[in-house]
This record gives sequence, structure tokens and C-alpha cells, in this order.
Amino acid sequence: MTDFNKISHLLHLNGCIPMEFRNMKFSDIKGLDWIKEDLVNWMNDPSKILTLSSQPGRGKTLLACVTARAYAAMLFETGVFPQPYNIGFKFASESDISLTFKAAYAKRQDQDYIHRLFTAPDLFILDDLGEASNTEQSNEITSHIITTRYRANKITIITTNLSSDDITARYGARVTSRILGGKVISLKSLPDFRSTSN
Ligand SMILES: Nc1ncnc2c1ncn2[C@@H]1O[C@H](COP(=O)(O)OP(=O)(O)OP(=O)(O)O)[C@@H](O)[C@H]1O
Ligand SMILES: [Mg+2]
Repeated sequence: MTDFNKISHLLHLNGCIPMEFRNMKFSDIKGLDWIKEDLVNWMNDPSKILTLSSQPGRGKTLLACVTARAYAAMLFETGVFPQPYNIGFKFASESDISLTFKAAYAKRQDQDYIHRLFTAPDLFILDDLGEASNTEQSNEITSHIITTRYRANKITIITTNLSSDDITARYGARVTSRILGGKVISLKSLPDFRSTSN
């Protein structure tokens, strides 16, 4: 298996990465050189949190997945991880997280174990921050995951439609400060690729 395929396999197995983005690379995305440059700069000197923000359809999830793949490949090539399989990777939307906790609660499963699913991976794509219902419990779980990962020096790539004011209103100033203290890339100037592709 080639390195590219090994990393694809890793993202398939552990990541639940969306099918349409599993095999995508930077070179598959036309143009957008300024964004690609920003993302490569981030990979070379990664902050703990990378956030991609915009309205729907601008390519946040696509770019988050492509960046995660490239970053995993870079760690592998530079020997930080001797095998691609050793890089703990996870992809989950905020709704996935919320539903996982609800199911665990209903089945009286150990909540710590569920927390670790999201806090243990070295690299986590938290897709669609702000998508789950705006309840105290759900916001608290998300805040806890973000701050726990931050404290443990683990990298989180966030995609969101929320503004920084919305993030503060939902998750509080401490989470906002950690997010804004990392790298934030706005894709607001891009078109809605969902409507332009049809
Ligand atoms: N640069 C691009 N060129 C062509 N198609 C693109 C580009 N970026 C994204 N797309 C396509 O547009 C669609 C939407 O992309 P994506 O799901 O990444 O958007 P998003 O910003 O995450 O949207 P949402 O906020 O609704 O989750 C996908 O089918 C994706 O393949
Ligand atoms: Mg998305």
C-alpha cells in the first residue's frame, strides 16, 4: 500500500471522514492559492486550533479534510510518527458528538469513555461548530472537548458558520479566546460551491 493509501485508510477507519472528501488532495482543488498557502503555513507551524469559518457551501469541510490528510502525511514523512496508523485521527460534527452523548446517557454508558473518543485523538476535525442544538448541556460538552484538547496540546480543526460573537454567546469567552488565539481563516469571500456546481 502506498503512503497516500495508508493515510486514506487511516482516515476511513478512524475518522468517519465524509465519503466525498476521503481521497481529496490540495492539488484537486482549483485556484484558492491564498488559502492553500495559509493552510500550508499553518501545517509548518501549527497552532492548537485551526478554524475555518464562513456561510454554508464555501468549502470549509473539504479544506479541513484535505489539510488533515496533508498534515498527517507530513508527520509521517518527517518521522514524527513512524507509521500512519499511529496518528490518532477523528472526524465528528458537533451533532455527532451530541448524539453520541445522548445515546451513551440513555444506555447509562460511562461518559468519561465517550469524552475520550473526542479528546484522545492527536488530530480531531470538529465539523460544524454551532450545528447542534443550542442547549447548556450540548454547549458544555463541546466547550469541555475543546478546552481539554487545548490543554493536552492536541490539534483541533474546527469548521463553523458562527461569528466570534456567536461563539462567545454559546461557549463563553474562554473557548473564544482559545479559538481566536489560534489560526482563523475566513472563507466568506468564496462563492457557495453547492449552488454554483448545479
Ligand atoms: N474550491 C472548491 N471548488 C469546487 N468545489 C468545491 C470547492 N470547495 C467546496 N466545493 C464543493 O462544494 C460543496 C460544499 O463544500 P463543503 O461541504 O466543504 O462546504 P462547507 O463550507 O463545509 O458547508 P457547510 O457550512 O454547509 O457545512 C462540496 O460538494 C464540495 O465538494
Ligand atoms: Mg461543512
